[in-house]
Amino acid sequence: GKVAVLLGGTAAERPISLISGAAVLKALQAAGVDAHGFDPAERDVVEVQGFDRAFIVLHGRGGEDGVIQGVLEQFGVPYTGSGVMASAIGMDKARTKQLWLGCGLPTPAYRRLTATTDFAAVAAELGLPLMVKPAHEGSSIGMAKVYSADELARAYEVAAQHDGEVIAEHFIEGSEYTVAVLGDRALPAIRMIPANDFYDFEAKYQRNDTQYKIPCGLGADDEAALQRLAVEAFQVLGARGWGRIDVMRDHDGRFWLLEINTVPGMTDHSLVPMAAQAAGLDFTALVLDILAQTLA
Ligand code: DAL
Ligand code: MG
Repeated sequence: GKVAVLLGGTAAERPISLISGAAVLKALQAAGVDAHGFDPAERDVVEVQGFDRAFIVLHGRGGEDGVIQGVLEQFGVPYTGSGVMASAIGMDKARTKQLWLGCGLPTPAYRRLTATTDFAAVAAELGLPLMVKPAHEGSSIGMAKVYSADELARAYEVAAQHDGEVIAEHFIEGSEYTVAVLGDRALPAIRMIPANDFYDFEAKYQRNDTQYKIPCGLGADDEAALQRLAVEAFQVLGARGWGRIDVMRDHDGRFWLLEINTVPGMTDHSLVPMAAQAAGLDFTALVLDILAQTLA
């Protein structure tokens, strides 16, 4: 049947989604699927009822947070990836962490920041440096790494321009990994070595000096432990189909969950296609696998 590739949307990550979506659309069409691009920012979303399935490649709020998933449920159009609840929780960094903590899974300590927060007290409590993050943003938009309480106040102001909810999170010194989950299995882990101070928007999409290591350089037991942690983190959120879990490893070798992405990037700089390739799945095979797991 006809597949709507949902791309674009109105979130800050729209430009990334347009690139991810175009790549998915091209791959589906090349594989003979009757796929069409559908940008909910440009079309009335009710027209999606004319399709048999939806492949969601919308990043950020409105597309990755359960809203479009709920619309598709209402219209009875099966869609790829996580359902309403896991999408909503996964888009919310604070609630994701609360759920992981509640299940005994490791995630760095954090505090919510508001305009009246005692920033010096938060800096003292969590320790510096800290990551400041809009709670519902992606691609590192609005994020900062801060080294002092003064910087924390400024970083809060910036993050608050992107989101009504902002968190400060203890920064784990060590190395950064990501694990793609496809169905109920983890793909090979990737280690990211950004040339910047952290793996920010520029390091993700604009620079070609970010290093990606796959195989990731961990021993087999360590990588297996990381993959098990990622699958568990994915499943306790109720996530489905596909996604990507970002993880830090501290100098003592402990892993710390940072976040889930329920609609990860699919650009030529993106990590899930890289992990799939290492598992012997080319981009087309990956996209067909995700489509095959459409939530009915
Ligand atoms: N939020 C971006 C698209 C990612 O996680 O890949
Ligand atoms: Mg993210």
